[in-house]
Amino acid sequence: MAKMKSAYFCQSCGYETPKWLGKCPSCSEWNSFVEEVVSTSKKEVVAFSSSSGRTAKPQKLGEIETRKEERIQLQDKELNRVLGNGLVPGSLILFGGEPGIGKSTLLLQMAVAEKKSILYVSGEESDQQIRMRAERIGNTNEDCYILTETNVQNIFKQAEILEPDILIIDSIQTIFSQHIESSPGSISQIRECTAALLRFAKQTETPVFLIGHITKEGSLAGPKVLEHMVDAVLQFEGDRNHVYRLLRSIKNRFGSTNELGIYEMLGNGLRQVENPSEILISDSDTSLSGVSIAATLEGLRPMLIEIQALVSTAAYGTPQRSATGFDLRRLNMLLAVMEKRCGFKLAAKDVFLNIAGGIKVDDPAIDLAVVAAILSSNFDISVERNICLSAEVGLAGEIRPVNRIDQRIHEAQKLGFDKIIISKHNKGIDQKNFKIEIVMCSRIEEVLKELFS
Ligand code: TYD
Ligand code: MG
Repeated sequence: MAKMKSAYFCQSCGYETPKWLGKCPSCSEWNSFVEEVVSTSKKEVVAFSSSSGRTAKPQKLGEIETRKEERIQLQDKELNRVLGNGLVPGSLILFGGEPGIGKSTLLLQMAVAEKKSILYVSGEESDQQIRMRAERIGNTNEDCYILTETNVQNIFKQAEILEPDILIIDSIQTIFSQHIESSPGSISQIRECTAALLRFAKQTETPVFLIGHITKEGSLAGPKVLEHMVDAVLQFEGDRNHVYRLLRSIKNRFGSTNELGIYEMLGNGLRQVENPSEILISDSDTSLSGVSIAATLEGLRPMLIEIQALVSTAAYGTPQRSATGFDLRRLNMLLAVMEKRCGFKLAAKDVFLNIAGGIKVDDPAIDLAVVAAILSSNFDISVERNICLSAEVGLAGEIRPVNRIDQRIHEAQKLGFDKIIISKHNKGIDQKNFKIEIVMCSRIEEVLKELFS
């Protein structure tokens, strides 16, 4: 077989060289050379590594046939929703997450749950390991094939024979194209393999899931260009020491990126969590001080979460502030607001804040609940369990409105709360439409009166 040629290109000016260089002689950029395939001989058409030869013609927008997009409905409701109501044929989906978070588990679980032929390619684990995992999850799909292979050309060969309905690659960092000399996981390899998989997906209309690792900095390992090439980027996140996992969509060409999937990692795989609020609120009947409930939105999904705070006298000169699941700078800001605008002496106190369930929230609507939890712990007076809060707190101590307040109120009502405290400036809220009592406040002081007197 004739060998394909590759060359190195500067990523900032396009300078070409046959050997890797540290510094570009043309634009003086450092470390900018990446290996790319330059030529394929005409006769030897390697599967999915050259274009199909069809030339496209311009068409009038109005004359383009709108094929009613048939989406593949998956058994996994959460995954279905995050993908934008089903899997689009021929789409390439990047599935990212930290090591050990459960990416392989989720996709294997999908593979064994579907009644479709699925090819699961693993470059990370042996077939025995995968078998053991499948047994743990509960294997049912007879049409699920496992291939332990890292050569992308061989993967295509097998995929052409098998013609699977869905292809899963675990992971993009372990596979390689034989036309490129760099080692698997390098930028050139990732780019070349993704491009080949993209062509495979489009030409065969097979949806392809691509598992990708995330670097310490939290970005998908590999070039940013990877995210541009794929149709959707899903991110699986959560705290490895907790059981809950969130599946977010960061990019989706076929749906909204506001959807969120929630899973619980159990001994026998991941369980879909349909009603997140129920699990995120501990069901103790007695009210404890330092605990409040916030009505928040994750994407488009309303959920109620429990905020826990502990305020104690500082043992050392500088008080400690620590927050889990909440932005520490925002906590400091809220403490400053309480100190300055409401006259609370929190400067000599240690403040610890925790969001139950190990999830991270950056919805500003939980501000008020954070303030309530801190003050509740500070005064040692509990907030009643039947009250929840949903509002942002501004620098002047004012209570600010938040988006989609009616959805939040509905969720609180559904879960049997008797009262919700929101901002006075939320427009269009009519108490008549709700059974739950809606209390509207414009300043922290009013909220305090409502909660603690
Ligand atoms: P894994 O899917 O291998 O993570 P990733 O592919 O993202 O690196 O999941 C690894 C963790 O999941 C592992 O620490 C054990 C845990 N786990 C369970 O708790 N229950 C299960 O049923 C399975 C299969 C894994
Ligand atoms: Mg894995």
